Amino acid sequence: MSISRYFTEMLDPSMTWDDVAKMVAEWGGQFCLKGVMTAEDARRAADIGCTGVILSNHGGRQLDGSRTGFDQLAEVVEAAGDKLDVLMDGGVQRGTHVLKALALGAKAVGLGRYYLFPLAAAGQPGVERALENLRVEIERAMKLMGKTQVSELSRADLRFR
Ligand SMILES: Cc1cc2nc3c(=O)[nH]c(=O)nc-3n(C[C@H](O)[C@H](O)[C@H](O)COP(=O)(O)O)c2cc1C
Repeated sequence: MSISRYFTEMLDPSMTWDDVAKMVAEWGGQFCLKGVMTAEDARRAADIGCTGVILSNHGGRQLDGSRTGFDQLAEVVEAAGDKLDVLMDGGVQRGTHVLKALALGAKAVGLGRYYLFPLAAAGQPGVERALENLRVEIERAMKLMGKTQVSELSRADLRFR
């Protein structure tokens, strides 16, 4: 109960864009805003001086009917242009998930449960093994796609049903 209460109470609906703008100004360096999910908010993040955004619905663990970072990725990358680095997290569990996000224009992806579960099951060696599996999957999938560098990935590599 205490953890569930913590997650509910730490969500602060009184937080505004002006608050974020003040934080960005006070920080004075690279500032990456997590939880952005729309092109409009990405543009706003750039306007107040953010240098990156992480598209995230926080793993869909609470608002589980929301769209995912991946669903929103293409339009946010387009809106961000060269003003923001766009990162994405949520549901990344295998190498091809990483490659699909990079192909749509993400600079990087984040991992939550992908490392937390092996950490709980097997400690640091578990995390090292999970990351090695991911590395091998990325390399194998790139070979199968005929790519030698991630910079060669593009939207043309993807089809949506
Ligand atoms: C146990 C747990 C606690 C988390 N706590 C936070 C948090 O306090 N703030 C936050 O922005 N995201 C939090 N997240 C979300 C992660 O940072 C990340 O966005 C999410 O786990 C990515 O999705 P994935 O788990 O499918 O990789 C948490 C995730 C988990 C699993």
